[in-house]
Amino acid sequence: MLRTVLGLAAQCREGYAAGRAVHELPDASSLSSVAVCGMGGSGVAGDFLRALYRDRLAVPLDVVKGPELPEFCGRDSLVVCSSYSGGTAETLACFEAASERGCRIVSVTSGGALRERSGERGVPVVQLPGGAPGPRAALGYLLFGALGAVESMGLVPAVSADLEETGRVLDDLAGELDPAKRGNPAKDLAAWIGERVAVVWGADGIGSVAASRWKTELNENAKIPAFASSLPELDHNEVVGWSEGAGKGFVVVALRHDGEHPEVAKRFPVSILIAEESGAETREIRARGQSSLARVLSLVMLGGATSVYLGMLRGFDPTPIEAIDRLKAVLEGPDE
Ligand code: F6R
Repeated sequence: MLRTVLGLAAQCREGYAAGRAVHELPDASSLSSVAVCGMGGSGVAGDFLRALYRDRLAVPLDVVKGPELPEFCGRDSLVVCSSYSGGTAETLACFEAASERGCRIVSVTSGGALRERSGERGVPVVQLPGGAPGPRAALGYLLFGALGAVESMGLVPAVSADLEETGRVLDDLAGELDPAKRGNPAKDLAAWIGERVAVVWGADGIGSVAASRWKTELNENAKIPAFASSLPELDHNEVVGWSEGAGKGFVVVALRHDGEHPEVAKRFPVSILIAEESGAETREIRARGQSSLARVLSLVMLGGATSVYLGMLRGFDPTPIEAIDRLKAVLEGPDE
């Protein structure tokens, strides 16, 4: 898992190549909406796409994390079905609905029923490499696979310069997070979190999706409950909960980046102070790079490595996700 987390740059490049390699993508003319359907680690790719490109997309992009395709999806909608395994019930249900309604579909997967059904119905597939230790560890493939395809369709601006910068930033960071490295910031963060409950904050947009990713990585790799919220929204509710003494046993990790809206950036110091006064310990983490892609993925890598080191500190193998496997077995039956 750690090797995969630290190998994110290579994964992004491979995912992008897979996305760009797809021919006969749906026609993008008169498109009215985009829906990215996917659960867990595969749905995160949709969250990231929306946060990264919402200011530059000509049509609305919705992320669907359940079995129901929104009513607005029809012949003028692009539906991206994202499932690393290709066997996730909710994503397959959306695929079926999109297929029935004549939506323009692109599948992003490494195999399973999604690839099979896509092949049968002539739906283009971004064929991702298999072998990642779980879909959450395939974010580089999933995000850049989808991104390569939507770039080819002309829906997002050229990606290659940002991808190049992202690769450089991630490779440098991976060196610092190597297990043998002294002063490793991820090991330090893991030791600092320890047995406390982590609440991760980020500014609406890429900060917020990075915070959600930290939360799920802490859940799945470190095997702990963790929570994420977004500024400015949390200043309108959560902040009241940080009342005197309530923060004891909590840590707040604030994920910051240089592209935050100035009105949102202004809120961090005072919000952090309120959490500290309630007894929580806090730390600020700053994203690296100039592009939004580099910034969000540098936060992702640091969070991933922190979660893996914390899992190991707590005596767990970070990779298995027994609770998810158990739920899938009980609720869905075996993957097709
Ligand atoms: C497991 C993980 C899960 C899966 C989810 C959907 O590592 O992160 O959240 O991503 O259960 O499965 P896929 O991604 O195969 O559609």
